[in-house]
Amino acid sequence: LSSYPSYIDLLPAIQTCNITNLPENYFLKYYLYHALTWPQLSFVAVVRPRAGYKSGSIAGDYPKVVGYVLAKMEEEPTDGLQHGHITSISVMRTHRRLGIAERLMRMSQRAMAESHRANYVSLHVRVSNTAALRLYRDTLGFEVQKVEEKYYADGEDAYAMRLNLENQW
Ligand code: ACO
Repeated sequence: LSSYPSYIDLLPAIQTCNITNLPENYFLKYYLYHALTWPQLSFVAVVRPRAGYKSGSIAGDYPKVVGYVLAKMEEEPTDGLQHGHITSISVMRTHRRLGIAERLMRMSQRAMAESHRANYVSLHVRVSNTAALRLYRDTLGFEVQKVEEKYYADGEDAYAMRLNLENQW
């Protein structure tokens, strides 16, 4: 038995990271469904406790989650093409602009292509989300497919974006 927590042990902390950073939240069982169904596709960024640190509590011995990407394969693709989907990604404010989101995205994209032969990866993002748009479009090379009107619960539109994964690795 390893004393280091597994990805599943970290799910409550991943959920807390999501609730802290985004208004789109999910039941814990939805995180678990991702982890059990597509274990290769989701990743977490953690800060380990300092060496020699003695907390005395179980929670205190856990690494702190500072970012995650929650990803899946589309189960019934309407276009008949195997493809991945980014359900959610966020990084804690304290750890932004360090390249964490870019790294999480690239790891997930590669796993989609290698483990599931994904043709492309899709996602939705708020039209007002400048930081995420810069990450997807300028850093990673995603393209806008269409605008989905009133996609979000508060009525904001979403860009439906996708990135071709063929011949990348
Ligand atoms: N303003 C402009 N460009 C930005 C910003 C910003 N605030 N943040 C990231 N970028 C772009 C830059 O091009 C950056 O490269 P550079 O730093 O060399 O200029 C590039 O993205 C990579 O940045 P990272 O450091 O990898 O991004 P970070 O780890 O800071 O995370 C994220 C970016 C996830 C968007 C973060 O700001 C966040 O958690 N925001 C709140 C949650 C969120 O909006 N999540 C996405 C919702 S959509 C969805 O989940 C599918």
